[in-house]
Amino acid sequence: MSAASSRHGSRLIVALDYPESAPALAMAARLDPRLCKVKVGKELFTAAGPALVAELSRRGFEVFLDLKFHDIPNTVAGAVRAAAALGVWMVNVHASGGRRMMQAAREALGAPGPGVPLLTAVTVLTSMDPSDLAETGVGAPLEEQVVRLARLSVEAGLDGVVCSAREAPVLRRVLGPEPVLVTPGIRPAGSVTGDQRRTLGPRDALVAGSDFLVVGRPITGASDPATAVRDILSEMSYGNSP
Ligand code: C5P
Repeated sequence: MSAASSRHGSRLIVALDYPESAPALAMAARLDPRLCKVKVGKELFTAAGPALVAELSRRGFEVFLDLKFHDIPNTVAGAVRAAAALGVWMVNVHASGGRRMMQAAREALGAPGPGVPLLTAVTVLTSMDPSDLAETGVGAPLEEQVVRLARLSVEAGLDGVVCSAREAPVLRRVLGPEPVLVTPGIRPAGSVTGDQRRTLGPRDALVAGSDFLVVGRPITGASDPATAVRDILSEMSYGNSP
């Protein structure tokens, strides 16, 4: 666990993967902002925009704006600045945009600290397998590429990376204790895997070195989402540290 994560309240982030505002806000109404944060991704943001993010913030939620920016440095700098103006808790970029792009994003947000959104990077999309990566012209083995891009992200001043919980142990080893690791693909005991291939339980993900867990359908698809949140939080705290 990074030092940063202990300063950031709940380590559970609920992915609000909805096509429009109404069901996202209905789900948020069933969640307690003291117990979890929320994630707004490309589909929901494209449909519902800044007004939805503002409403979630008004209700007390910390928002991870998962738009994975990847563009020229000047454009990404402007995009993360706009995200910061919305008051989000975390924003992210694609590490494959390179050092200058990530440095520009860091400079646009200013030094890490209170009131500054956490800035994280996606390394290699977890949907990609080694042959997908090779097809894009990257000859390195997949894990080597993940480690290379994670190192580059931290060197460029980012706060951490989004990664599979299965990559967390190696990233914790090479990056050290400080960078934030955010991991989706979490499946609590007894839930269905869905289209996620390489899943870990909440407790195992924390043991692997994750700071924040992104959970979607096991909560949003549950008949009682508030109970699902409580069950996952208790799985996370089982056995105390980390
Ligand atoms: O419903 P589920 O728990 O699978 O949702 C996981 C969330 O995390 C989704 O919003 C998905 O887009 C996101 N995500 C992921 N794998 C990544 C990055 C993001 O599943 N590598």
